[in-house]
Amino acid sequence: MIGNRHIRLDVVDSTNRYARDLVREGPPEGTVITAQSQTAGRGRLDRQWLSAGAQNILASIILYPTRPMEEWGGLPLLTGLAVCRAVRRVSPIEPDLKWPNDILVGNRKLCGILVESGRIGEKSWVVVGIGLNVNQVRFDGSYRTEPTSLAREAGRPFATDDVLSAVCREMNELYSLWKGKGNAPVMTAWKSASSMFGKNVIADENGRRTEGIAVDLGEDGSLCIKLSDGSIRYFLAGDVSIRKES
Ligand code: BTN
Repeated sequence: MIGNRHIRLDVVDSTNRYARDLVREGPPEGTVITAQSQTAGRGRLDRQWLSAGAQNILASIILYPTRPMEEWGGLPLLTGLAVCRAVRRVSPIEPDLKWPNDILVGNRKLCGILVESGRIGEKSWVVVGIGLNVNQVRFDGSYRTEPTSLAREAGRPFATDDVLSAVCREMNELYSLWKGKGNAPVMTAWKSASSMFGKNVIADENGRRTEGIAVDLGEDGSLCIKLSDGSIRYFLAGDVSIRKES
């Protein structure tokens, strides 16, 4: 069960790095590592993840998925959906999902997810890193769009442990569904929790930009974009921005 074992750290470079190293010792599936602060928090695409000390959730979850690796692209989306459901459960906030795994309120980022994976001998592992802004209300740093937090949106603080418990509960439910049935039901649920479909988007894949309308998710977790010539393209990785006028 996700969250049955919880390792609480005060300061660490990155909970994902810690979790990856811990995997060698064979901790049980669902082990959660949290920290009050990180000195080298990592984001997707080699970005930094900044978080004020002791205010937010900085968590990494260790999983040993046994489904075929082609289906693992669903795990970041599954995590985003779990966080989204947890936020709805503990607050009046209605977050939105942006492919592949950003959780937004309006156009402000509330949570980021970094999924890393590997193999030790015969055993495959996945570390799911979650940075969820809970009580931070001031974000100093150079952001394209200033992030947000639960406290900023709801106008009151939240107990990070309660929010984390809700995340673990929702993760457990969705991960069990995924273990039994694979990506399809998770992708269907993700699509109905996201407002991005039907909107004009720009997909950035290593600097190559493609513009079109987000129309669907592939069963492997890819984003399906319809280009202006009517052709369809699937993106498995990269960054997507939603055009303002859409
Ligand atoms: C992103 O949006 O770029 C993903 C951010 C993921 C941040 C979390 S915080 C806990 C875990 N440890 C890390 O170093 N990164 C993830």
